[in-house]
Amino acid sequence: MEHARVKEILNRNKSGGNVVIKGWLKTARHSKGFSFLEVSDGSCFSGIQVVAGEGLDNYDTEIKKLLTGCAVSVSGELVDSPGQGQKYEIKAEKIAVVGLVDSDYPLQKKRHTYEFLRTIAHLRPRTNSFGAVFRVRNAASKAVHHFFQERGFVYLHSPIITASDCEGAGEMFKVTTLDLKAPPRDEAGKIDYKQDFFGREAHLTVSGQLEAEIAAMALSNVYTFGPTFRAENSNTSRHLAEFWMIEPEMAFCDIRGDMDLAESFLKYVLQSVLNDCPDDMQFFNDRIDNTVLATMESIIKTPFERITYTEAVDILLKSGKTFEYPVTWGCDLQSEHERYLTEDHIKRPVIVTDYPKTIKAFYMYLNDDDKTVRAMDVLVPKVGEIIGGSQREDRKDILLKRIGELNLNEKDYWWYIDLRRYGSVPHAGFGLGFERIVQFMTGMGNIRDVIPFPRVPGYAEF
Ligand code: 4AD
Ligand code: MG
Repeated sequence: MEHARVKEILNRNKSGGNVVIKGWLKTARHSKGFSFLEVSDGSCFSGIQVVAGEGLDNYDTEIKKLLTGCAVSVSGELVDSPGQGQKYEIKAEKIAVVGLVDSDYPLQKKRHTYEFLRTIAHLRPRTNSFGAVFRVRNAASKAVHHFFQERGFVYLHSPIITASDCEGAGEMFKVTTLDLKAPPRDEAGKIDYKQDFFGREAHLTVSGQLEAEIAAMALSNVYTFGPTFRAENSNTSRHLAEFWMIEPEMAFCDIRGDMDLAESFLKYVLQSVLNDCPDDMQFFNDRIDNTVLATMESIIKTPFERITYTEAVDILLKSGKTFEYPVTWGCDLQSEHERYLTEDHIKRPVIVTDYPKTIKAFYMYLNDDDKTVRAMDVLVPKVGEIIGGSQREDRKDILLKRIGELNLNEKDYWWYIDLRRYGSVPHAGFGLGFERIVQFMTGMGNIRDVIPFPRVPGYAEF
């Protein structure tokens, strides 16, 4: 008989019949003549209780000795459970022990800290918290694709290895096959990348945006969803060196259309996760942060506030608060500023637009004031910046001027500039940090706990 998943069994509208399940023991309680095994297969938050009696032929030799973490295959009858808190249980007729555990299995019943669990990232998916995080991640990924596919966006696979720096921030990991101990040198004594694998310097991408812009100039609306990399030395609870980003790009679209898309997109993902993962979300609300459900529901219902950077600076200056980083017009908004705006002042998500050009990337559309660009950042409570986007500079002469002002090398962007010579149109897009939205939904305090294998300064185990 083919085995069933626990989720499907628990969703049945009546008990009865024989089932086979396979999974790992969350708990094993042995009493006289009976054992109660809670078996989880990761398909949903709960496991299912298996009752094994001493009549089973391997009861004394195997079942009685089972410990938390053992892998089993159980067949038996699905019956109504007399116990509290569970609808059904399985009266075992046969239990095959598939994998035993050594006695030092680290996931015992007591609560472990998230710091400790990070050191056993190969086992932490078996905990309640991480099972729930990964199911929410999955539901959110599905929602991302559904949202864009329903609207006719084409999924673009942007490259991971690239030769251009999208954000111009120089926070890129080098990709090379040169011998680091004795790299080839040119006449000037500099490392000769012509002899490197790609015949030039190459990096891991920080963003798929520039390639998404290429595609949007043909397919109109596209999106990427892939890993991106930042070699920034930020040891914070909101930064990863490797994170997943979703980047839509739309032709014939301005900053207003961009904000509208960002707002409906966020709401759609939140609603889908609430629909798909009610038990996991209830767990986060009960055990991690008792505001997550109410916050998500209110965000789905209420329109986002929209203010300019200049207005945001005014609010911060008038707040009477002393920030660690003092605020002046022209400064980059720090996390403490972002959180004050969205948590204390506006009390819901806010989209901040029209930032000074000096603190934003070269590709953003320059406003007539020659001081600000059509950038838009979506800020949400607890996380701060969750989305960063902009209308793009589609005028060739102004783009060239910006590239010059920022001391970037025009030659590196020849194809990007070409797009402004061959049928250039207004276009806009944004990037959503996937782990930031998972962090927001789950209430997990540290971004390292919402990605299976976090990569951060000084750490890349597993
Ligand atoms: O604001 P960022 O740097 O924007 C871009 O990369 C643009 N090219 C996006 C676009 O317009 N297509 O990054 C976008 C988002 C941020 O708002 C944040 O959510 C997330 O990516 N992000 C990070 N998430 C985790 N760890 C990091 N180190 C992150 N850096 C950015
Ligand atoms: Mg940003």
